[in-house]
Amino acid sequence: MSKKTKILLGVTGGIAAYKAAEITRLLIKKGYLVKVIMTRTAEDFITPLTFETLTNEGVYQYNTVIKDKPMLHIDLARWADLILIAPTTAEFLSKIMHGRAEDLLTTTCLAFDKKIVLAPSMNKNMWANKATQENYKALKRRGLIFSGPDFGSQACGDIGTGRMKEPEDIIEDIKSLTKKKLKLFENKKIVITAGPTQEFIDPVRYLSNRSSGMMGCEIANAFYDHGAKVILVKGPCSYKEKDEIDSIEVKSAQDMLLSVENNMSNCDIFVSVAAVSDFIVKDLSKEKIKSESISNLELEKNTDILKTISQKYNIFSIGFAAETSELKSNAIKKLKEKKVSVIAANKVSFSEGIDNENNAITLYWGNGLEKNLGLKNKKDLAIEFVEEISNIYN
Ligand SMILES: Cc1cc2nc3c(=O)[nH]c(=O)nc-3n(C[C@H](O)[C@H](O)[C@H](O)COP(=O)(O)O)c2cc1C
Repeated sequence: MSKKTKILLGVTGGIAAYKAAEITRLLIKKGYLVKVIMTRTAEDFITPLTFETLTNEGVYQYNTVIKDKPMLHIDLARWADLILIAPTTAEFLSKIMHGRAEDLLTTTCLAFDKKIVLAPSMNKNMWANKATQENYKALKRRGLIFSGPDFGSQACGDIGTGRMKEPEDIIEDIKSLTKKKLKLFENKKIVITAGPTQEFIDPVRYLSNRSSGMMGCEIANAFYDHGAKVILVKGPCSYKEKDEIDSIEVKSAQDMLLSVENNMSNCDIFVSVAAVSDFIVKDLSKEKIKSESISNLELEKNTDILKTISQKYNIFSIGFAAETSELKSNAIKKLKEKKVSVIAANKVSFSEGIDNENNAITLYWGNGLEKNLGLKNKKDLAIEFVEEISNIYN
């Protein structure tokens, strides 16, 4: 199997279509494998023969049907690592925005679940038009990547924003998007807990908290992306980790501890992100407690998963500490008392930290070392967290 990155180049019907030949040549020169799909209109501007000559293989036309390959759009979507559409016409932006599947290129894009890069090319007024701008913004929100357009002189004689980025600059964007990332935790086994726990009061009621599981799942995703073998032990929450991650669903802290311990063999790092309920009821009622008979619930301290694991196993452990006040002193106290390697402390209130897309954490470790990772979206924060942990761990 070739290790080369596979690029599917879509060419649409704009005046810059001739520059797609140079893009093809440069991609091949840089070591990419390239296949080309052209729209019907693109063929009015440049012939398939140009691309066939450059790629040394057949070009896929808007209506290409290959005998024995009735699902060509699916095969092409599976083959490619990235789709680049250069040039991208205003018409094509609108089509992809609306999820059209009217020819081979639109259908392949719809069947493709990896990165799509668009290099728009059109007259400045077409680009500035509200319809195009709305399509552009919506596609960006959807995660499509834009390379350009540039400001400059245009084929029609206008000067403004809308011309396609130069082929060399588009290739630079493709290079940085396809650069193989450094895997910081290759072959490390990491056990992570996430979400809340539920502690029964009686057969129908429980004690729990507002944890959404997002921080723990995103940390699991970020470690996974860095090559780690991740085991995620997750309390009841709706947030989903990547499908490829092994996850175990649990309810109570007792179950969570059991699952963590079952996975401790050859574990390198334990990360306790779960919001484990601090209390359980002293006497679990086997019968539903009658509403008239509830007066006082007697609580006692729950199992401390982080403390148990970090004291029993000789591994690098990281604990999350959600605090409503005295963040630093409470974090340092936990670091010492529980004998953990790093405490990640975050402030929580009714509007911060928990059940919220953003979070701000500060890491405390060693003898008075600390690093503030700032307020960020939990996904970005998880990526930075994992990079910072690799500095402390190594
Ligand atoms: C001479 C000529 C040049 C054109 N140049 C552009 C262009 O640069 N950008 C663009 O968005 N549309 C341009 N168009 C309009 C597109 O060709 C038209 O919207 C077409 O339907 C695009 O189809 P496609 O996106 O499926 O390839 C041009 C049309 C003509 C006749």
